[in-house]
Amino acid sequence: LRVGVLVSGRGSNLQALLDAAADPAFPAEIVLVLSNIAGVQALQRAAAAGVPGETISHRAYPSREAFERALTETLEAAGVDLVCQAGFMRIVTPWFVDHWRDRLINIHPSLLPAFPGLDTHARALAAGVKLHGCSVHYVRTEVDSGPIIGQAAVPVLAGDDPDRLAARVLEAEHRLYPHCLRLLAEGRLTLEGERVRVDGGRDD
Ligand code: GRF
Repeated sequence: LRVGVLVSGRGSNLQALLDAAADPAFPAEIVLVLSNIAGVQALQRAAAAGVPGETISHRAYPSREAFERALTETLEAAGVDLVCQAGFMRIVTPWFVDHWRDRLINIHPSLLPAFPGLDTHARALAAGVKLHGCSVHYVRTEVDSGPIIGQAAVPVLAGDDPDRLAARVLEAEHRLYPHCLRLLAEGRLTLEGERVRVDGGRDD
């Protein structure tokens, strides 16, 4: 499975995917990293792993869709089968979602459907939830919605502030995203309507 990763910044989830894919036994290959922002750490991580990285600035295009058509052309020229959003800070249009339908996944730092959108850790603390976490899901047009592939939960602890909680969630993200990519690449995910069935292995 040829994977393209969309990023906008730090790229720690990209790093987790690159590290997993460095194992020759891993069933997916990261063939391209695309950033909408130049000079970000994620691009340095791609370069260090020997994976081609490119910047396609959304600002260079007259519309969201024009930007996404440029992304898509570049992804398709690289023979990408699956697109992983990893800290990609652009909301995608229905055109992009349709074009990559069931071939586009995202990681979100909450236990969806709780806390879609931004500032999830502060909002989780404000809500007083005792469990928080992260979700990997297929992308649909509504932001941070879509069939859930996997989730990981972490406790909210006394004395947490958004940064401490974010750090705990991030560790879980770094385990969850490669795990979900592996399930997908092994052909173990089946969409039943808008739910994901996981076959085989410890998720069965
Ligand atoms: C992660 O928390 C991810 O879930 C969210 O943005 C953050 C990106 O971090 N969408 P990184 O760029 O992967 O380090």
